[in-house]
Order: sequence, then C-alpha cells, then structure tokens
Amino acid sequence: MAERGARVASGGSRARTLPEIVTTPDELRRLRLEWTRSGRQVGLVPTMGALHPGHLSLVALAQRECSTVVVSIFINPLQFGEGEDYLAYPRQLESDLALLAERGVQVCYCPTVDGLYPDGFATKVVVKAGGDLWEAARRPGHFAGVATVVAKLFASTGPCRAYFGEKDVQQVAVVRRLALDLDLGVEVVMGPTIRDRDGLALSSRNQLLSAAGRESARCLSRALTKAGEQFRAGVVRGVDLTRAAASVIEQEPGVELHYAGVVDPSDFQPVEVASADSRVLVSAQLEGVHLIDTSRLGSPLQLER
Ligand code: PAF
Repeated sequence: MAERGARVASGGSRARTLPEIVTTPDELRRLRLEWTRSGRQVGLVPTMGALHPGHLSLVALAQRECSTVVVSIFINPLQFGEGEDYLAYPRQLESDLALLAERGVQVCYCPTVDGLYPDGFATKVVVKAGGDLWEAARRPGHFAGVATVVAKLFASTGPCRAYFGEKDVQQVAVVRRLALDLDLGVEVVMGPTIRDRDGLALSSRNQLLSAAGRESARCLSRALTKAGEQFRAGVVRGVDLTRAAASVIEQEPGVELHYAGVVDPSDFQPVEVASADSRVLVSAQLEGVHLIDTSRLGSPLQLER
C-alpha cells in the first residue's frame, strides 16, 4: 500500500499528496474532534472502492458543500449474501488513492474487516424503508448490512452531509430513514447517476464484465429509455410500462432479468397509473454479475460525461 503523505505522480509532471489514510474508528474519531473544534463541516462519501467517475462526481459535490471531505473505502462483507461476489469485487486501493489525490481529497478511511467487526460483534441495524421489493427481495439481508456499516461510518466520521449515488436509489431511501430515525443529524445527499456515452450506468461491477458482456449490459439503460418513450407517447399504466422495460432486457441474449418495476418513489410500491415522478427500476444478471439501474420516468437519461 502507498505510504501516508506519499507523493504520487499525476499526468506526468504534476505530483499530488496522497490522502491521509486512516484505518481505525478511534483514529478517525480523534481527527473528527479536531475538525469539530476548528468548526469544519465534514462531508462523507462512502464507497467500496474501484472508484469511477460516478464516485468522483460525489466527491466533487462534497467538496463544493463541505470544508473537509472524507472518502471511505471498505468492501463490507455484511451486505453480500451467500454466493454473491464479495471475493470477486474489484480491489484497487493504489489507483483509488491516486484518483483521490488528484482531486485533492485529504482523508481516506480504509478500515479492515476485523477492525469494523471484531470478535463478538453482535449488532445489526435493520431499517424498514425502501419497501420490501426489488433489491430488498432479491438480496435478503443486504440493506441491513448496508445500514449497519453506514451507521458505523457515520458514528466515527461525524459528517454533516453524506453522498450517495442515485443508481442505488433504494439504498438512499434506507440511509435517509436511518439518519432520521437515529437522530444522526446527517443530511443524505443523492448525486445523479453518471453514465457512459452509450447509456451504461457506471458501476464498479462493470469491470467484472467481458467486452461482449459490457455491450449486452446496455440493455438496462435501453429498458429505462423505452419506458420513458412509452410514457411520453401516452402510456400511463404501470404494468404496460413495466412490460415495455422488461421486454428489452428479456430480448438480450445471455441476460437474465431479475426485475423491472415502475414505482412510487416515496414507498417503492408499484404504481397503477404512472406520473413523470414515478421511478423505473431494473435489474439483471449477466456473466454472473448483478447490475441495477433506475430513472425518473419523466426525465430522459443524461448520457454525456
Ligand atoms: O453503495 C455502496 O458502495 C455501498 O453500499 C456503501 C454505501 C459504501 C456501504 O457499504
């Protein structure tokens, strides 16, 4: 691993200082006390690493709104179910740190699994929000794993704001509820999904796809576009819009549809009659990789980056 305070080359001639790497909750709490004393506003960007421009756009948002930005990198075993890709999840700390250095991030929190979940760890945070469908049904225990680690990250970082991507919109609902219900005083900010020019939503898991798989994965964003086009053409029944989205994914060879739905964004229940604010949720598996995507029905996908 790169040393704390080390300099990394960036773009040939420029050199940037690596973020300070903090590995234990106690160390972070000590820093947090200093930040509180000096009146700093802390923004947290929680990640599992393998950083891409989607994460970096959250970092940029945090830097605009907060005086100190902490990025956490931790692949949280608690949120992976049996047979899921915990071991295969991309790990690339060196290049992640270099990217954060280029963006001037000062602190990166990289705890270890034993550090966050020592022997005897016995607490689970279960949040009943974001509905019991879609990711919640597909991945039992996933959101409890997310809520538990996010509660721990909030407790040791003490952020005023925390930044999450829209692609994981059900996760955002869970974290917002967590922050409210436990009086954590954290504003949960949702940053827009960042897409490649061809529509594919950026995800660390895209790295696990072959070139052909990556091409096939575009069917998720095409499904969202299809639902949006149908809506603008006057189709409003939730089931018809859902069918339109699902059929795009079902027609893609090698791709297994997990779910498609048109939902009310307040409770993630399927809508009978859709509005521009309804959310389209899609998920599929290909080459063993679980992918999700979402859009607001009334808004065309933003493709440029
Ligand atoms: O969205 C993610 O990368 C993870 O679910 C999070 C929020 C970092 C918790 O492990």
